[in-house]
Amino acid sequence: MHSFGYRANAVLTFAVTILAVMCAMASLSDTLNVPSPSADVKVLNVNWFQKQPNGHDEVSLALNISADLQWMFTWNTKQVFVFVAAEYETPQNSLNQVSLWDGIIPLKEHAKFWIHTTNKYRFIDQGSNLRGKDFNLTLHWHVMPKTGKMSADKIVMAGYHLPEEYR
Ligand SMILES: *[C@@H]1O[C@H](CO)[C@@H](O)[C@H](O)[C@H]1NC(C)=O
Ligand SMILES: *[C@@H]1O[C@H](CO)[C@@H](O)[C@H](O)[C@H]1NC(C)=O
Repeated sequence: MHSFGYRANAVLTFAVTILAVMCAMASLSDTLNVPSPSADVKVLNVNWFQKQPNGHDEVSLALNISADLQWMFTWNTKQVFVFVAAEYETPQNSLNQVSLWDGIIPLKEHAKFWIHTTNKYRFIDQGSNLRGKDFNLTLHWHVMPKTGKMSADKIVMAGYHLPEEYR
């Protein structure tokens, strides 16, 4: 005959096993459901590309920036700050980063968007390094929570190319 203690223990073990299975299933469905952020930036046009009187290269680009950052919005998200930067290498610096556009997303409803824009901030190189330059566009984000620590990450889009000649 089983003692009460033995049966209680069996019931508890069973309950814990069920709980463990449920947790495993829940976290599995979580990982299956974790959507990833996506972004795409197209250079629609090089509006103009010049050497300034001071010798610095400047280019004006028409961009189509599209992104889906909706997954960043949880009960704890206050807002998300995003910026698009051009990143390239020069003989002087292994990484030059020029911010071209930024925005603040206050609501999940606004987190899936596309915008057709010219660069909001000037794309200037402190030199004359931009002709024929390969560059990356990166979409950076900072998630500002209601409580807790800010988190940040980025998506790198490689393979952009500036014209060989000024225009
Ligand atoms: C910008 O990109 C979005 C998403 O890819 C597309 O639906 C839209 O038509 C594009 N707009 C322009 C002006 O190219
Ligand atoms: C551009 O992106 C490529 C591929 O991710 C990377 O290897 C390269 O270092 C990047 N260039 C710069 C200047 O960040």
